[in-house]
Amino acid sequence: MTMNGLLGRSVLTDGSRSNRRSLVSLIVGLVVGFCLAEMFILSTPTRREYLPYAGHQHGDINDAHNSHDMLGEEGPESDVGAHQHAYENASIATKLSNEVRILCWIMTNPKNHKSKARHVKRTWGRRCNKLIFMSSELDEELGTVALPVQEGRNNLWAKTKEAYKYIYAHHLDDADWFYKADDDTYAVMENMRYMLYPYSPETPIYFGCKFKPYVKQGYMSGGAGYVLSKEAVRRFVEKSIPNKDFCKQDNTGAEDVEIGKCLEKVNVIAGDSRDQNARGRFFPFVPEHHLIPSHTDKGFWYWRYIFYKTDEGLDCCSDTAISFHYVSPNQMYVLDYLIYHLRPYGIINTPEGLPERLKVGQTLAPPVEQTTTDIIATEKKSVEKKSTT
Ligand SMILES: *[C@@H]1O[C@H](CO)[C@@H](O)[C@H](O)[C@H]1NC(C)=O
Repeated sequence: MTMNGLLGRSVLTDGSRSNRRSLVSLIVGLVVGFCLAEMFILSTPTRREYLPYAGHQHGDINDAHNSHDMLGEEGPESDVGAHQHAYENASIATKLSNEVRILCWIMTNPKNHKSKARHVKRTWGRRCNKLIFMSSELDEELGTVALPVQEGRNNLWAKTKEAYKYIYAHHLDDADWFYKADDDTYAVMENMRYMLYPYSPETPIYFGCKFKPYVKQGYMSGGAGYVLSKEAVRRFVEKSIPNKDFCKQDNTGAEDVEIGKCLEKVNVIAGDSRDQNARGRFFPFVPEHHLIPSHTDKGFWYWRYIFYKTDEGLDCCSDTAISFHYVSPNQMYVLDYLIYHLRPYGIINTPEGLPERLKVGQTLAPPVEQTTTDIIATEKKSVEKKSTT
């Protein structure tokens, strides 16, 4: 349009002169017009922030303003980096890391090695005592185990059995507890060690987000991940997997329900992972889903599945929560930052002392469900007791 306008004007002013002059004018006009048009185009802002807001343009990273815009992002190509905190005292966490050793194994597949699994390795996976990626193809960079299984949702059960058989054969002495997670699960390992601390790894028990249906004692959601004691792994691999009366022999089936059935058959306890205030610690969705009341309506399957009475709002989740699911690769780095770096200045949290250790076979008494007022009263009392002694 700019070009046509300029061209039109130059033709009009020179129209009455001779043919040769009008030809020269035409060429000059074209050149000048072209240059002006170029200048005009170059000076037009191309960066979106200079333009009026025109709604979300999905798929354009420069336009992502909230986490939903970035859900599809594959995560950063290079690591975001790391730094130490000079004034941080992690002595208790370090002690627990030596006394409550956890092997994490991540259910992944070749398609997800780069897009998902490597972000687990760079974030929370680093804090496991041992980290193993269970796939069906070798990947030296990620460090995978190529299990003898086909890929696909229909083979997750076969993969779970093979994974625990592999761990039993090669790594049973490398840890006390064995945690299965997906490549979109995020876990806080320090809190998992704290929850497991009182229990003996020789107790046949496992923990996770407990669901009610299909298995009498309940089973643990696969997405939130579940952690088996060493004795639970032994029973599962030695006694349950080989027995067709205890364990489904086919490859197919919901991996979390099937392992729940197999473990119940060999008397592995479905543990209670709630904290002292009866708040949950393992979660099958992102924090937002649990924290915001009525984010999901009451007819949603989760409310029928959940084993223990579960609140919405801040009472949803323990202050020592352990895992969340459906965490996008970018969100893993965000959670790492929020949990391990961002601190409100001047607030120092003194952790409660460690609980007594239980004998083999013993479990903690279930927490008493309390109201927020009760909890505050109890906490006040214990602070008063501390200050008087
Ligand atoms: C770190 O914390 C532990 C446990 O509370 C305490 O015993 C120790 O003195 C602390 N170390 C430093 C350097 O403050």
